[in-house]
Amino acid sequence: MSRRGAIRLLVVLTLAGTLAGAAVVYFGVYNVAATEQHTAPVYWLLNAALKRSVAQRAENIDVPPLDGRIENGLVLYREHCLNCHGAPGVPPNAFALGMTPLPANLAHTARTWDVRDIYWVVRYGIKMTGMPAWEFRVPDEQIWDIAAFVAALAHLTPREYEALAARVGTREGPLKPAETQAREDAVTPTPHPAEGDAGRGKKALQQYACVSCHEIPGVVGAIHPVGPPLAGMARRGFIGGVLPNTRANMVRWLRDPKAVDPDTAMPNLGVTERDAHDLAAFLETLR
Ligand code: HEC
Ligand code: HEC
Repeated sequence: MSRRGAIRLLVVLTLAGTLAGAAVVYFGVYNVAATEQHTAPVYWLLNAALKRSVAQRAENIDVPPLDGRIENGLVLYREHCLNCHGAPGVPPNAFALGMTPLPANLAHTARTWDVRDIYWVVRYGIKMTGMPAWEFRVPDEQIWDIAAFVAALAHLTPREYEALAARVGTREGPLKPAETQAREDAVTPTPHPAEGDAGRGKKALQQYACVSCHEIPGVVGAIHPVGPPLAGMARRGFIGGVLPNTRANMVRWLRDPKAVDPDTAMPNLGVTERDAHDLAAFLETLR
């Protein structure tokens, strides 16, 4: 075939492929129901891609000493993980049984996953699975406690798990003020610029659900615009129509909008002081 003919064929094939793809989307061919399993090849591919992706990113993480972390790890595991992953002899909550992919039973995970991989997955979460990222909610030290516990799970029988759980007890209720403070001090690795880190603020927009309500330039996600778009926020004179738009006021608004305006539909999202500065630093880039 001549060079020109080959190029023409390539263009036609690309166009046909694009059209076929568009038709699959338009006619709703792909069934998004969580009751439909992935096909075996898709499932295999997703798992292989997941493992390689995590292993690549986790391989250079320095592992701190892991002794003496299991008990605290168990308390945290029960608080944050048990409802989805279950534990030896303990089923997940009902809602988790309806998830696709189904959260794995982690009793086997440590046999094939390095503790670095477990730490990485807990810290950053797994896109498109429902596995949350804990980076913005659990201090790094505690993520290691959890990773140490998950690593130990592979060797715990249901009876041993039950005995350990009974010994350490539970911690009920929401985070207490002292713990919230400890979380603030520990969640963000130092050194951290006092004026805020706009790059990290951009990530925080997702992690505090800002994108679920606001359309934000450069951030994908807002399809239900409950709040005003934030484009040009840096140029607005007021925040929420009431507070002069300064850094201190923005931090105040982001941390506790209800204290500024009891009727606002923007909820208090538990934003830490540092994270509020990071978010504000990002919002200041929206000119
Ligand atoms: C809302 C449900 C949910 C919560 C809460 C949750 N996970 Fe997950 N997790 C998932 C899903 C879904 C996956 C992806 C499917 C899979 O591989 O298990 C996953 C994957 C994992 C994996 C990879 C396991 C593997 O073998 O593929 C680990 C490790 C893990 N989670 C640990 C945790 C820990 C530790 C916590 C608590 C800090 C936690 N998860 C909280 C849903 C959840
Ligand atoms: C549940 C939906 C919701 C979430 C989540 C939410 N907001 Fe809002 N936000 C609103 C609404 C509604 C307003 C309008 C408030 C008003 O005028 O009372 C608003 C107002 C604002 C304003 C002021 C806008 C202006 O033009 O004055 C900023 C800035 C803002 N939000 C940033 C954020 C950030 C950053 C987050 C994440 C930490 C966030 N919002 C999370 C609903 C939300």
